Amino acid sequence: MMSYFPIVRMRRLRENATLRHMLTEVTLEARHLVLPIFVRPGRGVCEPVEALPGVAHWSVDRLPEIVEPAMELGVKAFLFFGLPSYKDEDGTSGADMSQPAQQALSSLRACYPDAYLIADTCLCEYTSHGHCGHVTPDGRIDNDESLRLLANVALSQARAGAHMVAPSDMMDGRVSAIRAALDAEGMTDVAVMSYAAKLASAFYGPFRHAAGSTPSFGDRRSYQLPASNPREIIRDALMDVGEGADALVVKPAGCCLDIVSRLRAETDLPLAGYVVSGEYMMLRSAIAFGSLEEERGLLEYHTGLRRAGCDLVITYFASELASRLKKG
Ligand code: PBG
Repeated sequence: MMSYFPIVRMRRLRENATLRHMLTEVTLEARHLVLPIFVRPGRGVCEPVEALPGVAHWSVDRLPEIVEPAMELGVKAFLFFGLPSYKDEDGTSGADMSQPAQQALSSLRACYPDAYLIADTCLCEYTSHGHCGHVTPDGRIDNDESLRLLANVALSQARAGAHMVAPSDMMDGRVSAIRAALDAEGMTDVAVMSYAAKLASAFYGPFRHAAGSTPSFGDRRSYQLPASNPREIIRDALMDVGEGADALVVKPAGCCLDIVSRLRAETDLPLAGYVVSGEYMMLRSAIAFGSLEEERGLLEYHTGLRRAGCDLVITYFASELASRLKKG
């Protein structure tokens, strides 16, 4: 279609506020948002996370204080990260039913039937070395042995009450390993949302601080994806589709919108974009510095993800955004 000024004037559609509203193409609504929550051992604890101002570590008994207000604002989905009371080589605490993540899932599942509970399935928070898999004596990450451990973590989370498990480790074959383990236990209705396009990113810094999951040696580049390789990223993400993933996560979100829009074109699965800790802090710092208008800036940033093709947006700003959206 050719369009020529002055016959065509784009501003005719933008001049009138009612028409502008009628022609809104992409919306950001509370129902699209997922709020990540860190759960830690103990009782009566709500401890602010220094690396992530505005985010806290919660003990299970105090979770209603963050879950209820969010639900009142229309945020119904929560993504849980567990901080265990012990760590070992193979991350045993990740599959321990008495640990905070599992306890949180079972208590919320009983108290809030409308809440949708997603568990982050990984090993790095639970291993003494901080890697997302089993480390061999020569310091490599053993893919297939890691699958066995990850499937156990996912099973324990599903048994505890997770509606959905979200493997974020980036081992090959984890989606099918987890799907098979769930199905073998009759948990065919538990969904798997894989972090399908997860980059080896500098933007996880504050999270690793918050979750105590910085690797004690090496880095995660043997399993997380290189920012320089779009074709490899898409191939890797589409592998998860073939293995039976129900939804895919792209992470970080803001600097990977090309990946979101390519995946949107190549698969019909629901897509989630994760505004990770480093992006959160970029936005927070800009707001604190007076360089970014809080409400409009946050709305624009998160709407960008929806425009690129995200069905869901995982963000530490979920409650703030929902409260802004409620005001209209
Ligand atoms: C665990 C995991 C990480 C994040 C989510 N799940 C950290 C990592 O891979 O190092 C990052 C989230 C964030 O930065 O907000 N595997």
